Amino acid sequence: METRKPEEIVWREDLYPRLKPDAGKIQSYADDLAVLPPIEVNQDNVLIDGYHRWRAHQMAGAESLCVTVTPTASEAELLMLAVSRNATHGLQLSTEDKRRYALRWWNVLPEAQICATLSITDRTFRRWTKGKREQQEADLTADIRARWLRCESPETIAAATGLEPRTLERRIAEIRQNGQMTDLTLFRDFSPELYNIWSFSKATNTVRHFGNVPPEILDNLLYYYTQPFDVVFDPFAGGGMTIDVCQQRQRRYYVSDLTPTPARIPEIRQWDIAQGLPEDLPVPDLVFLDPPYWRQAAGQYSDQPNDLANVSLEVFLKTIGDIAKAVKRKWGASRPHARLALLMGMLKTEGAMVDLPWLCYTEIARYLHLEMRYQVPYSTQVHGGQFVQRAKDHRECLYLFRDLLVFKRDTEKGL
Ligand SMILES: C[S@@+](CC[C@H](N)C(=O)[O-])C[C@H]1O[C@@H](n2cnc3c(N)ncnc32)[C@H](O)[C@@H]1O
Repeated sequence: METRKPEEIVWREDLYPRLKPDAGKIQSYADDLAVLPPIEVNQDNVLIDGYHRWRAHQMAGAESLCVTVTPTASEAELLMLAVSRNATHGLQLSTEDKRRYALRWWNVLPEAQICATLSITDRTFRRWTKGKREQQEADLTADIRARWLRCESPETIAAATGLEPRTLERRIAEIRQNGQMTDLTLFRDFSPELYNIWSFSKATNTVRHFGNVPPEILDNLLYYYTQPFDVVFDPFAGGGMTIDVCQQRQRRYYVSDLTPTPARIPEIRQWDIAQGLPEDLPVPDLVFLDPPYWRQAAGQYSDQPNDLANVSLEVFLKTIGDIAKAVKRKWGASRPHARLALLMGMLKTEGAMVDLPWLCYTEIARYLHLEMRYQVPYSTQVHGGQFVQRAKDHRECLYLFRDLLVFKRDTEKGL
């Protein structure tokens, strides 16, 4: 048995629902402290049982009182102990009190213990907690869906959600089935570009980044070249525009970058694409390449020597070709519908133009077949006032568009 000073005891009103202090009882206890049993507290001296005995010691000016200490591991456990110990004193809990406690303890304490403490049937408990269970179910579905969309492996999702592999498989199949039906709805208000000049005003995705491109580019690519839940691979994720659009359009996405934007870690995996395709990449249905336009972005994304903005032109072009080669191998014979799209702009250095789209085309065309070429003008805002004035002064025309090249496997030629 331990002792405490009365002032060390912590009284919490919220633990004593409907307690009605009995002044007569306190007085009679104060007259005969010696016969009183110890009060019960937890390890933090929070009073669990013995309100009138504690108050009697205060009233009598006692220096200490005897306590038994019952350790509690959680707020819910503390509350349950206080409620059950005091069930015999004070007023009975109202139905509303019981309902409130049932909701507080749901999923924290065992159902049988809750029912016994509150003297309610399991049917009543299930009725009261129906909304909570439905919400839990909806949260779980949303969690599985979000993880599956960002291409987490089934093993990772099972570990995170605590689901058996077969249950997880079934739930993913349900998500897929429901999603198939909503694809038309998702694109209902979407006006695709009908011609191959895709002109959009400015980049508007959630995270600002030097290389932000307008989300409409990916939106149109998804519209033309993918089905619901297809896997989109973007190894130059930048500010994460691909994530935003894929989430909105119900496509799965695997996004990585040499230097992931801090705001989107861990959504964007850290990966140097010059090392080859990431090992855990699922077979992609659409590969979207938006690399730096070589030296145009030198030092803009990072100072790393393997940043494609900082390498030599030979290494830059070889890397683009190697990606196409690795993607083609990854597709194998299984993805006749799959596409690789490259966004690339020309580069002006010391008066000469480097035709990067053309140079990249020749690298990729060694492995894949060009299916379509789009022109994607920049917003005129890319040219600041000074540049515009300089161009006028020197009678120079300003360069305004990028190429979006879409490739596929050439099944006919067996390429
Ligand atoms: C034009 S930005 C991509 C912008 C992105 N599409 C967006 O809208 O936010 C090019 C990206 O390529 C990344 N990058 C450069 N070299 C890389 C490499 N070797 N491996 C992977 N990513 C690289 C840069 O860090 C940069 O984020």
